[in-house]
Formats: sequence, C-alpha cells, structure tokens
Amino acid sequence: MNAAWTALRRLVSPPSMTSSPSLRNLGPPQHKGMTALDRSKFDLTIPVLAARVKASEMGSVRKHDLLKGHIVDIPKIRSITPDADPALRRLLLRVAKPDDLPADTRAYLASSGITLEPDAVTLGYDHWTASEILNAVIETKEDEDTPSSFTQTGHIAHVNLREEWLPYKAMIGQVILDKIPSIRTVVNKLSEIHAEFRYFDMEVIAGEADFVATTSESGCTFTFDFAHVYWNSRLHTEHERLISLFTPGSVVADAMAGVGPFAVPAAKRGAYVLGNDLNPESVKWMRENRVKNKVEARLRVTEADARQFINGAPLEAWRNPFVRSEPVTVRQKEREARRRREAAKEAGVELPKEEVKVDSPPKPQTVDHYVMNLPDSALEFLDAYAGSFTPLLSEPGFDAASTTLPLIHCHCFTRFLDIEGATRDINERASAALGYPVTTDMDGYLLHPVRRVAPNKDMYCLTFRLPHDVAYKKTV
Ligand SMILES: C[S@@+](CC[C@H](N)C(=O)[O-])C[C@H]1O[C@@H](n2cnc3c(N)ncnc32)[C@H](O)[C@@H]1O
Repeated sequence: MNAAWTALRRLVSPPSMTSSPSLRNLGPPQHKGMTALDRSKFDLTIPVLAARVKASEMGSVRKHDLLKGHIVDIPKIRSITPDADPALRRLLLRVAKPDDLPADTRAYLASSGITLEPDAVTLGYDHWTASEILNAVIETKEDEDTPSSFTQTGHIAHVNLREEWLPYKAMIGQVILDKIPSIRTVVNKLSEIHAEFRYFDMEVIAGEADFVATTSESGCTFTFDFAHVYWNSRLHTEHERLISLFTPGSVVADAMAGVGPFAVPAAKRGAYVLGNDLNPESVKWMRENRVKNKVEARLRVTEADARQFINGAPLEAWRNPFVRSEPVTVRQKEREARRRREAAKEAGVELPKEEVKVDSPPKPQTVDHYVMNLPDSALEFLDAYAGSFTPLLSEPGFDAASTTLPLIHCHCFTRFLDIEGATRDINERASAALGYPVTTDMDGYLLHPVRRVAPNKDMYCLTFRLPHDVAYKKTV
C-alpha cells in the first residue's frame, strides 16, 4: 500500500460503546456485484438519540463526566445540531434508545431537565474511503491486495487489476478519482513490461488520457511521458542510496539512466554525470529534466547502446573534461592528495610527501562510478568493460598508476532467495560476462539487496571496483 493510500485512510473512530448497533461496525452498505457506480447507494442512516440542551448550558453539559463516551464522535459529522426550539440545541448521543444509556447518565439528564428524542445521522458516499467503498462492492479473499491499492506517479494512479476485478474497472477508477484529489488519471497495466525500454502498455480506466506526469524525488523534479518511459517510485530508496555515495566532484557514468533519477540528483549534489539511455523518449525527458533542475553544465546526455557507452565513457570523460564549477576547498585538496598517495601505493610506488601536494584537484575527467540499472540483463553488459581504459594509456597526461578505477554498481535479479545462493548465482554470472572472477573479497565488493520484486525473485545491486586487468585489457 503506498503513501498516498495510507494518507487517505482516515479511519472512522472505532465505536467502543454498546449502544446503536449500526455504530458498532461502522461501514458502508454492502452492494456486492455493483459494476456501475451509484453513489446514492452508500448512504447509511444510523439511529441515535438527541439530548435537547439549553444553548447557554451546552458547553458544560457536553463536558460532563457522565456523558463521556456517549456523544456521537464520527469524523466530519456534527455532534451538536439545531433544534426546532431556537433556545435549544441537540446533542447527539451514540445510542438508539434511552435504556441503552447507563442509569446514572439518564438520572443526570432528567435532573438537569434535559429531554431525549429519537434522531439519526446519515453518512453518505463522501464519508467512506475508497477501500471501504470498493470492499463493499467487490468480493475479495483475505490474502488478496485490495482493488483500491495503487501506485501514484504525479497525477496518475496506476492499478494492477486481477482478472476477476476487470468488470469493475470503470468503477474502481472512478472511486480512486473521487477520493484522491491529486489524481486526474487512473490507468490499469495492460500487458507485460516492454522488453527493452521497460515501460508498460496501459489503459485509462478513469479520468483524462494525460500521461505526462510530474513528480519529485531526491530533491529534484521529474517530468516524463509515463506511457513511453520507465519510472518506478518504489526505487527511490535505491536511487538515494547510490546518489549519496557520489562525492561532489566525482564523475558518474549512468549507462541506463532512464529519465534521470540517479543522474539528475547526482549532478544537483555536485557530481559530473554522463547520462545515457537507448530509449529516445527517456533521453528527451532526461534532457528536459536537466534543464528543469538547472544541471545542464553537470549532466551530459547521450542516446547509445549501454555496451558502447560503457566502453567509451573513460575516453569521452578524459578528452572532453567537464569544466569544474565549484570552488576548490582545502579539504578537497587534501582528499585528492590522499587519493593520489593511496593509488600510487596500490600500484607499488611510495610517493614522497611533496609530490602528492596538489594545488587544485584534477579536472573531473576520470570515471569514478558506473551505474547500470537494467536488472533483467545488466550483468550481461559487463563484457563492455574489457579494455575500456586502454585507449587512455596513449593520452597525454594520463597516468594509470595514480588513477583509481571506478566502482561498478550493477543491478540484477536472482531467483535465489537466500543471500548465499544469491551471492553464488550473481558472482557466477558476473564473472562469466566480465571475463574475470567476481568474488566477495574484491576491492569495493558489496551485494546490496534492493527489494523483492515477485514471490520468487529478488533485486540486488552488485558493486565492485573495475579490476585493473579488465580495464587495461589489450584489445585488437
Ligand atoms: C529499469 S530502467 C532504469 C531507468 C533508471 N535508471 C531508473 O532507475 O529509473 C532501464 C533503462 O534501461 C534502458 N535500456 C534498455 N536497454 C538499453 C540498452 N541496451 N542500452 C542503454 N539503455 C538501455 C531503458 O530504456 C530504461 O530506461
């Protein structure tokens, strides 16, 4: 159940009293099988008692201890209403008959000259939540999702209806539209996900056929055509997790960037980003989103196959360096000196202190991170890293010994639901594609569980540092 739905769930306060039978299990009238929404059918009239109290005494009467728990307390329903006698007000009590009140309460009312009369409160369609209405018309099993659950992307509610709910689809859409003010379009997922570009075919079941949605994530605004690009709000934690790893000034190459949920916020927080996607629609909206979020200078967008992009990114970043736009701090200088010293040490060279002093950090021109979020097949693209840094060896100024190779963050699925099985499966497939053993003791290795996407399928993010032998592999 998503946040929008949780917010919508304003519960009618559970009646604790033993009086009016319809107040005990407050819910709309049941109309199982209704397929065309008739809002008038959800009216519920509940018998109550009205205590007729002098207007001037109402303040003290309603607070009296003996009336505690006996006054009608239903959201959006007034417990005090006008009386035919202008000097009186009606205080509605949660009982149908005087005998349902405790004797001492009855005695208090009588001694105060307060008379009781039958009355009623009526709850209508507007009173009930979407799930209360839909559960009143659609038969569901206990272990099922409710037909009212949806994912919200901008103004679009996206439902995933079971076969048996399809006869109710127009009504489900209309109830969601009625109940959630920020929704203008309700769509049902029609088929399996588009194999290459990962978007769904969808059918509008209520509202406008407007698929261009605007939403926010990681402090950025994203606009895109939801009918032609991939977007999944459930990935926001994973987006945030990786973005927080990218230090300001680092270079990030996102090979399957979509409309930019990693790329745009990373650029906004100070990274320099090469964002790539093969879907021309994703590229169009990623360009739009970099303008919207004012990161044009920090995010370069390309439309290429990920394999070509991955292999070419190191040379592209080196030959066309980003222009450093942030002021260089003393801390950054120290960090860069440390980085150079550690890289040299790893390469077996001990640099004297004065040689690692830097006046300013180098231009952002070597890739520090790769992101590959195409979990169905990203592991297969690992072959593209072979020799990706080799062309730099003949570039003036490039020094392999002081260059830290990038971390690769590669998303993938596995059918192994235990961590040992998943690790074995993913490492094996990664090794086969990379042409190099991927093991848990590799530099930077992390297998991060992202989420369970189906009862028998988990999504992970495999991180490891690109091995030197792969990066500098000689290619013909
Ligand atoms: C699962 S989506 C992820 C998008 C984005 N990174 C995100 O987190 O929302 C995968 C993306 O890979 C793109 N894609 C699919 N095949 C590709 C390929 N061969 N090369 C580059 N991008 C590709 C799709 O168009 C889609 O935008």
